Amino acid sequence: MSIVLSIANQKGGVGKTTTAINLASSLALLGKRILLIDLDYQANATTCMGIHRGSFDKSVFDCLTEEAAIPDVIRLTDNPLIHVLPAKTTVEGIEEKIILNTNRDFILHTQLKLVKEDYDYILIDCPPSLGYVTTNAMVASDGVIVPVQCEFLAMDGLTQLLNTIRLVQAKKKVNMETLTIFGVLLTMLDTRTSAGFQVVNEVKTYFGEKVFQTIIPRNISCSNATFYGVPVTEFSPKSKSSISYQQLAKEVISRNG
Ligand SMILES: Nc1ncnc2c1ncn2[C@@H]1O[C@H](COP(=O)(O)OP(=O)(O)OP(=O)(O)O)[C@@H](O)[C@H]1O
Ligand SMILES: [Mg+2]
Repeated sequence: MSIVLSIANQKGGVGKTTTAINLASSLALLGKRILLIDLDYQANATTCMGIHRGSFDKSVFDCLTEEAAIPDVIRLTDNPLIHVLPAKTTVEGIEEKIILNTNRDFILHTQLKLVKEDYDYILIDCPPSLGYVTTNAMVASDGVIVPVQCEFLAMDGLTQLLNTIRLVQAKKKVNMETLTIFGVLLTMLDTRTSAGFQVVNEVKTYFGEKVFQTIIPRNISCSNATFYGVPVTEFSPKSKSSISYQQLAKEVISRNG
């Protein structure tokens, strides 16, 4: 059975893309078949999986406007277990185009049915916004992973995110489907200061058992890996952040039952 997980938080720079690519890579190390969907017009996840901008024509955004079908857009990577539905950086008016579609919230959901069973995990890297693109990701998903950066004002904006999740839950209920908060992931913890641990306590008090036991530390190998455009699990497999993402993959599998 495949499971679709959106990695979402409208706050920018909290570690969504880093989590998407490293969770994909770590789950593949455990033998899982992965489809990574890059729904962010920054296209960082696409690039980090080794898919170069000029090497493809259609992107996931053409699927959202129904000008392409997912199976024709999926790209293979060097890792036979990871496929990518790539994003393009030049996307204008995508939200305006989606709004015109009477099936506007369910476009990705409908399209994903064509390939869903080919994968164990479908991971969706969401953009830093709560528009129709993110709604499409959530409607197509079984669960949401919410990365929260262990920094000042970490909880800021989470109410809005939770409201969006509730709205999507109501939409999915009509189809007898559910959307869970699969897990809250604490990211970029600076273990040298107490401020980060205060955020950890605050988030755990609010979300309880939803918080993953794995906490991703702030680690230079992680930002260096981004610079070179590769997952840290490949760039520096023994670094603290790489080991944490591999732990997270095991936790994700155990939560999936
Ligand atoms: N554990 C970490 N240690 C150090 N740097 C990190 C870590 N995780 C992410 N970063 C860095 O933080 C920056 C933001 O991360 P990332 O791009 O994953 O966030 P995002 O939520 O996807 O951002 P956006 O909202 O712009 O899409 C990147 O430069 C990344 O390299
Ligand atoms: Mg991102």
